[in-house]
Order: sequence, then C-alpha cells, then structure tokens
Amino acid sequence: MIDTRRQDDASGDRRSDQPGGRGGKSVYLETFGCQMNELDSELVRGQLTALGYRFIDEPGDADVILYNTCSVREQAENKVLSRVGRVGIEKKDGSAVVLGVIGCMAEREGASMMTRYPQIDLMCGPGELDRLPMLLDNAMKTDAVEHADRIALQGNRTRRTSTLAAAEDDLEMLDLSRAFDPDRAAAGGRSAYVRITRGCNKFCTYCVVPHTRGAEVHRPPDHIVDECRRLADQGVIEITLLGQTVNHYIYTHGTSLTVDGREMPQVGPGLKAFRETNAAAGQRVTTFADLLHRIHEEVPAIERLRFVTSYPRDFTDDALAVMAASPRICNYLHVPAQSGSNRMLKAMNRGYTVEEYLEFIDRARAALDDVSIAGDIIVGFPGETEEDFEATKELIRRVRFKNNFIFKYSPRPGTVAINRFDDDVPFEVKRRRNNELLELQAEISAEVHREYVGRTVDVFVEQVSRRSQARQGNVELRWQQPQVQMTGRTAGDLITAFDLPAGFSPDEMIGRIVPITVTSSGPLLLTGHPAESPVPQ
Ligand code: SAH
Ligand code: SF4
Ligand code: F3S
Repeated sequence: MIDTRRQDDASGDRRSDQPGGRGGKSVYLETFGCQMNELDSELVRGQLTALGYRFIDEPGDADVILYNTCSVREQAENKVLSRVGRVGIEKKDGSAVVLGVIGCMAEREGASMMTRYPQIDLMCGPGELDRLPMLLDNAMKTDAVEHADRIALQGNRTRRTSTLAAAEDDLEMLDLSRAFDPDRAAAGGRSAYVRITRGCNKFCTYCVVPHTRGAEVHRPPDHIVDECRRLADQGVIEITLLGQTVNHYIYTHGTSLTVDGREMPQVGPGLKAFRETNAAAGQRVTTFADLLHRIHEEVPAIERLRFVTSYPRDFTDDALAVMAASPRICNYLHVPAQSGSNRMLKAMNRGYTVEEYLEFIDRARAALDDVSIAGDIIVGFPGETEEDFEATKELIRRVRFKNNFIFKYSPRPGTVAINRFDDDVPFEVKRRRNNELLELQAEISAEVHREYVGRTVDVFVEQVSRRSQARQGNVELRWQQPQVQMTGRTAGDLITAFDLPAGFSPDEMIGRIVPITVTSSGPLLLTGHPAESPVPQ
C-alpha cells in the first residue's frame, strides 16, 4: 500500500510484541539541510530512543537507515538520491535494512519517490514526524523485502486547511517532549536550538520551503520560555531560536486554546497582515521583541541568545531596542538579501527593495554596537543580467557582510519561478558569478576580521579545530605540531582559533566562554590566545 494521505491508524491492528516496540534495533540517522532539520533529527532521536531503538554512527550494521532530507536545491536532493541508490544495491544483495526518507524531500516527493525507489520502506514529511514511531513500527513488522505495506505521509499541504490546528498541536507535543541529550548536542552539550515558528508564508518564487514545511505557525511563548529554561537546567548556555522568518514571530493570546484551556500554536499572518496585526489594538500579543525580552530576563543562565533567519522587512525598532538593552542577546543578524537588484527582488517576490534593505541595515548598525551581519545571495536567478549582478556586488560592498552564503539558482518543482520563468542564465555564468561573489565576500570578510586584531573578544569554545583534528589523524604531522588548536565563536559569530592552553584537555575547554586576545586574522577566522590563564572548572 502506498498512501499519501494522513493516516490515523496506518499501523492497522498490528501490535508491538513488547512495550516500546522495537527494543534493541539499531538506527543510523543522517541529516541534510538546515538547522530546522538538525532539530527535527534531535526530536526523532529522542522519540525513538525512548522506544528502545539504539542510535549508531555508521550505516553498515544498522537495522534502520533514516535520511532526514532537504529539498532546497537540486544538489541537496541528489546527495540523498545517491545514498538511496546505494541502499538499493545493498538490499538487492540481501540486506534487510529498513530505509526511511523523512524531512522536506519526503514532503515534496511523497509516494512518487517510493514508486521510483522501491528500496524505500517509509516516508514521513516534517509535519508528520509525531507519527514516525508508528510508521517505523509498521515497516519493521512488514516483510521489508516484499514491500507489502509501504507508507508515505505528507501533511503540510493538507494542513493548510482546517486540520491544521489539531495537527500542529500534535507536532507541538513532539517539541515539548524533547529529550535533549547533552552527550550528543553541540559544544559539549552547551548549545541548543529552540524553534519559535514552523513553516513559512512568504512564498519567495524560487523557494520550496513553504511547500515542504507548510503554513507559518507560531508556538505559544510560555512553551518556548519553558523549553529554554529546561535546556538551561541541563547545562545549555547558548540558544539559537529558529524560524524561517524569525522576526515575524507574533502570538495573539486568548485566540488559540485547546478544550482544556491550554494555549496552542497559531497560524501566523501573511506578509501584509503582519503589519496590520501589529497595529491592531485591544488584543494582548507577544511580539518578537517581547519574546526576546522574556527569554533574556526569565532564563539568565543563557549567556548567548541568537536567532535565525531574519526577514529584512518588518524588523521593528523595539526588537532592536531589546537587543541593544540585553547583554546576553548577541549582536548578530542573519538577514539574507538574496539580490542587490530591485528587478530581481521583485521577480523573487521578496517584498522589499534594495533601499528598504539598506535602511534596515543602517538602523541595525545605529542601534547595535559591533553588529555582525551575515546573509544569503542567489546568483543566476532567471533574467539576471550583468547589471543586476553588479548591483548585487554593490550591495555586498555597501553592507560589509561578515559572511554570505552564496547559491546558484536551482529551479525547484512546485515553485512559481520554475513555472513562470526560464532558467535562462547558463550554468557557466552562474558558476562565474558565484566565484566572483565568493572572492568579493572573502575580501570583505578579511577586512571585517582585521578590525578585531588587538582586541579581546569572548569566545564560546566549540571544538578542536578541523586542522588539528586532521593532524591528530596523521602521525607525521602530529609529531611536527603537537599543539592542539581549538575553535569557537564570538558573540557576533566570528570563528576564532587559539592554541589549547597548557594543562587543559580539549574537553575542559569546550562549552566555556573564554576571553581571547586576537593577534591575527584572515578571510575565514580570527586567531589569538587566551587573554588570561583559564581557571580550571
Ligand atoms: N527563510 C530563509 C531562508 C531559507 S532557505 C530566508 O528567507 O532567508 C536558505 C537559503 O537557500 C535562502 O536564503 C536562499 O538564499 C537559498 N535558496 C532557497 N531556494 C533556492 C533555490 N531554489 N536556488 C538557490 N538557492 C536557494
Ligand atoms: Fe523560502 Fe522566502 Fe520563506 Fe525564506 S522567506 S523560507 S526564502 S519562502
Ligand atoms: Fe532544506 Fe527543508 Fe531546511 S528544504 S533548508 S531542510 S526547511
């Protein structure tokens, strides 16, 4: 059976042979895509661990392989398809592994992917993850080789209808049941993500996310603050709030309640409605600024609070004011411009002009000391001329981003752009523009970094540097340079490297905030040494 509808009893009348279902079965989970997916993978891990599944780091011995997938560009999907292909060969050779494709690709492709790839046993979109254990249990009991009972759950498309509220409440339960595992979390268990909104209502013409993640939904503020508090109780000191347009967060109280009076997630307003809702009097609302303030005040153990991704429109002065007044909120903004040409921004349906973008950047720089600004740019959007491209270069120079993620336009099925515009910028041109922007951004990043030389910055230590990790694995190099290098980030998200102080192990440094005096810099990082001898903890 292949079923793309929401299934309330997809596992039929089958029962687990023991409570918790598949005790002892091993799962290999690989995550692609954005931080939302990383957080979803954490939820999946918690959910399945509680049911007795064991997570392993290599796919070789797994009973279950799960790919948590991304659809944002074709390349992201191709990575998954090559893995799926490999599992297909192994299954032909007799492997009985259960293969699940979850996340955005499962939502976008659904049953058609199962038809093309019979090795896939189950698919589950991001809006259906609360049902994954049931799906998996079902697949484990089915003869995986026969593929008698295969299910693809997609929910986000249908959830734009009346079922949204109830389904969102189920998803909310999954977020609330989060089993944070410090041993698996980043930076020695001291850094975590917290979702504040799901989905996206913006429908930029190139983007698949509104189709895969569904309507924009805002979580109740009490749930978010509680989650931050619980993470802090478990030792977390850095939290990154997540939302596709995170600064559009707004929760209107008293309008979305469960029958027992609990607040539940609520569908967010569209682009136009956002301003009107803000202006509406009489209803008690928690704005993005209010939410930042609450977390900062109510969970002071969080020493670093960040948020991604900001939308360049509607970033209010009160949110900037809260940032400026709150020492534990990082002066860091990831606020993608996408293009420096108004013609392109219009075709992309971004809803702002270059002038409005720059006005926001000026406001942010005026309000926030040392604010670090990062962004995303798409090159080769349909119709992009050399003139449009030059305008993007100009924007990059003007804003002086600390870094930019630069992407070549990739037409995505289901989006407006693929239907309306020819992908008419040749690949070679996309590649050249991409490289030119990488070069330009590297120059600007190097300039931004240079301004920090001689200063002392607080660095949240994350890991042994990649270079040191490589050296550790290479006996000859280890002999040449026994010194271990650590890396971490400043409040403005600048990557900073320093030598591990004598007498400390890497684990003793990871997850701490250490003052580092910057002695040199390059396009990628700052380098320095501890400003004072670290105190053992
Ligand atoms: N919500 C965020 C971005 C989410 S997707 C925002 O609006 O800023 C992350 C980035 O992928 C986007 O900022 C965009 O630069 C890039 N992207 C999205 N769709 C793309 C496509 N079809 N081709 C190339 N890049 C794309
Ligand atoms: Fe995609 Fe635009 Fe939504 Fe960002 S705001 S997720 S780019 S549709
Ligand atoms: Fe990719 Fe889905 Fe994130 S498409 S970028 S994993 S929201």
